[in-house]
Amino acid sequence: TSREQPYRTSYHFQSPRNWLNDPNGLMYYKGVYHLFYQYNPHSALFSDGIVWAHSVSYDLVNWVHLNHALEPSEPFDIISCWSGSATILPGNRPVILYTGIDANYSQVQNLAIPKNESDPFLQDWVKFSLNPIIVPPEGIKPDNFRDPTTAWQGPDGKWRIIVGSWKDDKGMAILYQSDDFFNWSKSEHPLFTSSKTGMWECPDFFPVSTDSTNGVDTSTLNPRTKHVMKASFNSHDYYVLGTYNLEMERFLPDEELTGASLDLRLDYGKYYASKSFFDSANKRRLLFGWVNESDSTEDDIAKGWSGLQAFPREIWLDGSGKQLIQRPVEEIKTLRDKNVGVESVGLDGGSTYEVSDITASQVDVEVAFELPKLEEAELMDPNWLDPQILCSEKNASVSGKYGPFGLLALATEDLREQTAIFIRVFKGHNRYVVLMCSDQSRSSLRNGIDKTTYGAFLDLDPQVEKISLRTLIDHSIIESFGGDGKVCITSRVYPVLAIDEAARLYAFNYGTLSVQVERLDAWSMRKARIGHRESLSYGE
Ligand code: FRU
Repeated sequence: TSREQPYRTSYHFQSPRNWLNDPNGLMYYKGVYHLFYQYNPHSALFSDGIVWAHSVSYDLVNWVHLNHALEPSEPFDIISCWSGSATILPGNRPVILYTGIDANYSQVQNLAIPKNESDPFLQDWVKFSLNPIIVPPEGIKPDNFRDPTTAWQGPDGKWRIIVGSWKDDKGMAILYQSDDFFNWSKSEHPLFTSSKTGMWECPDFFPVSTDSTNGVDTSTLNPRTKHVMKASFNSHDYYVLGTYNLEMERFLPDEELTGASLDLRLDYGKYYASKSFFDSANKRRLLFGWVNESDSTEDDIAKGWSGLQAFPREIWLDGSGKQLIQRPVEEIKTLRDKNVGVESVGLDGGSTYEVSDITASQVDVEVAFELPKLEEAELMDPNWLDPQILCSEKNASVSGKYGPFGLLALATEDLREQTAIFIRVFKGHNRYVVLMCSDQSRSSLRNGIDKTTYGAFLDLDPQVEKISLRTLIDHSIIESFGGDGKVCITSRVYPVLAIDEAARLYAFNYGTLSVQVERLDAWSMRKARIGHRESLSYGE
């Protein structure tokens, strides 16, 4: 029951039990969305023996679990089947490239194809008999060579992929080319290397339109696109925008990628090993990401499970051309049940406002704030360089002038338990600085949980734009989108008291200056149907 498992989610994807990590092989094929993911069938912890679990959906909301698509079975993947990607070849022919951990614990790249392309669920996969198709190149350690991307085709007809790696303190995307998808040759130099980062896991490389919010296919290359290079390292998903120069076979970034505190991240909280794909049915680029637990190994064993997928997001390039925008896919609205909406609510300094009559443990909330006397904002100290540190020093209980204001999620009535998602606005040298934070420090009365506070600067001008916040709350996950998707912060929380019907939701303002809630909408969320075919009830 829910009392025994208060942290299981209602509309975020998770498996019935055991360990889950990276999303893999995402694709849209014959009317069906495919999510494969790293899964340990034997335990709630990570170990050898990882398989590709497989679930399918018509709407990115409700999912049916199928049999595992790939399991360790051959010398080239006998220890584990690690992360990889799908490519849909011309003629609507899907293939998978994945990393096998071979009998020597070397990371090798393997190919698999569907047994029966007429099955839209693609339930059975055949491993290519000549696997591995790529082995670690000279000079690369065999345990630093993994996670092949979706392939793209250049105007010369050649297919290209990158594989994540690390050498001489540099993370890198090693480039391979192929005419036939079987024989791959390594390019002279990597597509891109970053100075001083960890091993690049799960790289992703894709184009975005500069003149439209539509997504484009991974092989699209024209003057109206820019490219995104994303890499997972140091527990975060970092990205840079830049130009893909085909003549040079290099990605030329607009900025450095160093993993520093001001580098762009897809999410500034818990979010890792994400992967995007082109949804040809709706001309959009979708993004999945793994959200791990913040509780202990013992807790995971006791719960019997570990890991969630973030709610699928749509991503596109911001009008400024300087960052990506993300938003939960539209289909989430099919889960919206009862709405509570209010307009023009003044929040004086030190006040809270309860959003009542909703299921606060399972809710989608949108709020927009207006700040009437911006010029009275407190001064920004130029030494405040790291937004995450600033958010933990100036946590939700530290009063300022404009801020902290925002939402208190999964809160008890006495506010002893609460997760605060909030904004602060400072007056900088010649512009206003907007800080967005997610403060988990009071999220649970329990100890032994990682309650790190997260934060990021929100690139918006409060003189011309309202400050918006969208938050998805689902029992033990809180995904927040600030400034209409400019900054995402995902967190995991484990309240003891603020569970199920006991959970409350508040808007709050602990700054000294009043703020105005221009509008707030909250929707109680229905439970998504996620399960094995037999276990799904269609009664709702
Ligand atoms: C990222 C990662 C990948 C690897 C997989 C193993 O979380 O470490 O690099 O392929 O997980 O499950």
